[in-house]
Formats: sequence, C-alpha cells, structure tokens
Amino acid sequence: MKLLVTGGAGYIGGVTTSQLLAAGHQVTVVDDLSTGHRDVIPDGVEFHELSVHDVAQVLTPDAGFDGVLHFAAKIAAGESVIKPELYWDTNVRGSLALLDAVRAAAVPRLVFSSTAAVYGTPDVPSIDESTPTRPTNPYGSSKLAIDLMITGEAGAHGLGAVSLRYFNAAGASGSLGERHEPETHLIPIALDVAAGKREKLMLFGDDYDTPDGTCIRDYIHVEDLARAHLLALDAITPGIHAIYNLGNGTGFSVREVVEACRAVTGHPIPAVEVGRRAGDPAVLVASSDKIRRELGWVPDKPSLDAMVGDAWAWIQANRHRH
Ligand code: UFG
Repeated sequence: MKLLVTGGAGYIGGVTTSQLLAAGHQVTVVDDLSTGHRDVIPDGVEFHELSVHDVAQVLTPDAGFDGVLHFAAKIAAGESVIKPELYWDTNVRGSLALLDAVRAAAVPRLVFSSTAAVYGTPDVPSIDESTPTRPTNPYGSSKLAIDLMITGEAGAHGLGAVSLRYFNAAGASGSLGERHEPETHLIPIALDVAAGKREKLMLFGDDYDTPDGTCIRDYIHVEDLARAHLLALDAITPGIHAIYNLGNGTGFSVREVVEACRAVTGHPIPAVEVGRRAGDPAVLVASSDKIRRELGWVPDKPSLDAMVGDAWAWIQANRHRH
C-alpha cells in the first residue's frame, strides 16, 4: 500500500515506519521535527518536514494514498496540565486538518495513535474498551476528542479506521530508541541515571492507593506496539471505527520498574520521592483480549526485563547521540 505516516520521525512512528517498509509498503513521512529526529527516517522513505496542520500539502487528492497512520501529537500528560492549549492545537486542530485532507482525498484507511490516558483512573483492575472514558488531563481529553471525531467520520463519510489505545511504550528496536527532549518518561530517565547523564531519579508520589504507594503502569514493547499497526491496517473495514487497547495486561509500579532498571544495568539508580506529578492516574493496566481475539495480535516481548534490556542496549550503542 501507499501510506502516509504523520509523526514518523518519532519513537513509535519511527519503529512502525521501519516495519511498514520491511513489509513492502511505500511510505511517506510528514513530521515537523519539533520532537522527532530526521535520522530516524530510513532510506527509501519520502520525507516532508511539515506541521500536521499543513498535511493537505502532501495528502492531495491525486497523491493516491491507500492509508494514513497518524502518530503526530503532543504526548506528555504532565505538560498538558500546564499547557492545555498546546494539546488542543496540535492534537485536536492538527487531527481535524488531517481528517479534512483524508476526506478530500478519499483515503480509505486511518490508523490512529490513541492512548490509555482516555480512561483516566478507572475503578477496575483491567481496562477494556467498554471501560468509561474519563480522562484526568488535557492530553487524554484531546486524544478522546480525536477518537470521537474519527467515529463520526467513519459513520458519516465511510472512513475505515482503527484507534489503538497504547498503554506505556518501552524498549527499543535496532537503531531506533526513545529520545524525547526533554525526556519525561520513567524508563529512559532511570537509564539516564545508570548511564551517568543524571544524578538521580525523581519519584513522583508514593502515597497512591497501590501496594507500594507508587503508580502502576502496563508496559508494552515498542516492536509489539508497532506490529499491531500492520495488523490493524489489514483489518480495516470501510465505515467502521474499531478501537483496541494495547498493553500486556500486567502492571508494574514505579518502584518495580526502577528495580528492573537496577537489575539490568547493575547501577544503584538513586531515587528521591518529590511528590505527585499533576494528572497522573494511580493504575493503568490493559485488557488486550479484543485485539488478540479479533486481529490475532500476540506480544513477542512481554517481559519488563526484555524492554529495559533493549532500551539499555540502545542507550549504550548510541551514547554519542545523547
Ligand atoms: N515517573 C516518575 N519519575 C519520572 C518519570 C515518571 O516517578 O522521572 C512516574 C510517573 O509519575 C508515572 C510513571 O512513572 O507514575 C510513568 O510515567 P511516564 O511519564 O513514563 O508515562 P505516563 O504513564 O505518564 O504516560 C505514558 C505516555 C502517554 C500514555 C500513557 C498511557 O507518555 O502518552 O503512558 O499509559 F498515555
């Protein structure tokens, strides 16, 4: 297929782009490089440095795209509490511009990067797609708004779409790893401490209603996450918006993640409790039964040690970039 990937210079978009290429698809990437990296984009991919707001310049009616994978977004829950307008602009206004272009060009397929953050703090041990959506931060609200826009688009205009609600992406894939600036995510920060780039880890809150008081998340290997996009593309049905959660179904606390990073790296990784970060739900653990059942998705690397191990190997191989 001829595919357009927005945000293909980012972490998850980059790994997915390389899997799409390996599967024989023709890929065009649009990325404004505000957080992505040019060197992530492999040879053989057409690249446009462009804001998603202006995607219609590339996604034209005569370009002949068979599908769009939409990764481009602001993704930091904590930042979204402080700068909500940025999240409504990039995520919602940007996605609206994309949907307008998709409609004008009659592109039949869309795969969208949604998030577990749409669920907020649900009162269930395992979140499935029928769990009520009650986001606790503007990031989650903006992604939920886009999911609702896509549902309307599918119903009114026949778009075939899949939203994948990611839980916490982790790990690395070959030369592609997690490189946010500034970094806000737990595993890369803990590994930065092990690599000597930071003195200590700040632990955001130890008074949550969880067994060790720290937040629990469901970590999923970025290669497993990327592979779900290829399955989704093949399964898309015109006029239907399907929504799937993507996680491993196992929760790890912040303390357990830091412990895994200590075990993998052999570094003590000092951690200091500094109070809660705004907008953090206590527990987010997925049920991914639906995507397993309907798309046949099975994770290859479900263990936390494998994710931390791949991320650590990538950091060591790419020290010069940090
Ligand atoms: N944390 C720390 N110290 C840090 C960084 C994080 O204690 O330096 C804690 C956070 O407070 C949270 C946990 O580690 O409790 C995980 O935080 P991350 O920032 O790594 O990830 P989030 O769970 O906030 O968010 C990620 C993605 C979102 C996605 C969400 C879904 O960034 O896009 O997972 O579960 F929506």
